[in-house]
Amino acid sequence: MKVVLITGGSSGIGKSIGDFLTQHNFIVYGTTRDPSKYLDSKFNLIKSDINKRNDIISLINYVIEKENRIDVLINNAGIGFTGPIEDSNLDDIEKLFNTNFFGPIQIIKCVLPHMRFQKSGLIINITSIAGYIGLPYRGIYSSSKSALEVLTEALRMEVKDFNIKVTNIAPGDFKTSIVNRRIDSFDNKESVYFEKYYRTWKAMNSHVEKSGSDPILVSKLVYKIINTPNPKIHYKVGTFFQKFSIILKRILPDLIFEKILIKYSKL
Ligand SMILES: NC(=O)c1ccc[n+]([C@@H]2O[C@H](COP(=O)([O-])OP(=O)(O)OC[C@H]3O[C@@H](n4cnc5c(N)ncnc54)[C@H](OP(=O)(O)O)[C@@H]3O)[C@@H](O)[C@H]2O)c1
Repeated sequence: MKVVLITGGSSGIGKSIGDFLTQHNFIVYGTTRDPSKYLDSKFNLIKSDINKRNDIISLINYVIEKENRIDVLINNAGIGFTGPIEDSNLDDIEKLFNTNFFGPIQIIKCVLPHMRFQKSGLIINITSIAGYIGLPYRGIYSSSKSALEVLTEALRMEVKDFNIKVTNIAPGDFKTSIVNRRIDSFDNKESVYFEKYYRTWKAMNSHVEKSGSDPILVSKLVYKIINTPNPKIHYKVGTFFQKFSIILKRILPDLIFEKILIKYSKL
């Protein structure tokens, strides 16, 4: 039975992946910062904060001690962020990048020696369709996910000789707790950005509420990738329009795409 480690297994996409893989006979370990809140979890939930280096080291040691191997690492833990770039608080930006980018790098660094030793492994980074497009008032989030996308591309080539596969999944909007836990780094009603930011903020929340997909779609894709001998570099999952936006960006001249985005974002 394959051993899977998912960061952020208490909620949303991570919980759905963990439940699905457990049902399909994988040995699953997930993380949460507060296991006492999730006593009914269907899989092992280990206390771990992705922003704390010692937590990550203990987490990997714990799973290796128990199972002797980690076949699949899913870098899923992450948080959302909104705010005009000029007005966003630098501490908030640092927190976002620690969780969405530096944390995943730290885990990858700790897991790779074990995967190299076992001469196999799969790393799946959960990024975002927002990582392909610099979205207004979500630029900090978009750039954290974009950074993880590009890191995936580089890492794949570096570890291919060790039979370690690396890929990423970019979800569109999914119904999870992401909106409730998001950092909204902006409360300045006097700001020149306030009106437009607030309009975009409301539209963003209603997109997730109204058209957010079920995280089971991501879980099924993860299952498919685990059973694929040679995973692709990038996977996208979401509505047709969300996936199509990336194709549009690729084929349209930059300025035309920007005009569409401005219209869509009601700016
Ligand atoms: N939902 C969407 O529309 C969407 C779209 C694109 C990409 N994504 C990405 O999908 C991933 C999962 O998000 P979700 O939508 O499922 O959100 P969610 O329901 O809020 O779940 C977030 C998970 O991340 C964990 N987490 C957050 N900060 C952490 C930290 N410092 N250390 C360890 N774990 C931490 C949480 O665990 P605890 O709080 O229990 O510690 C929780 O399990 C994220 O990377 C997100 O960016 C989501």
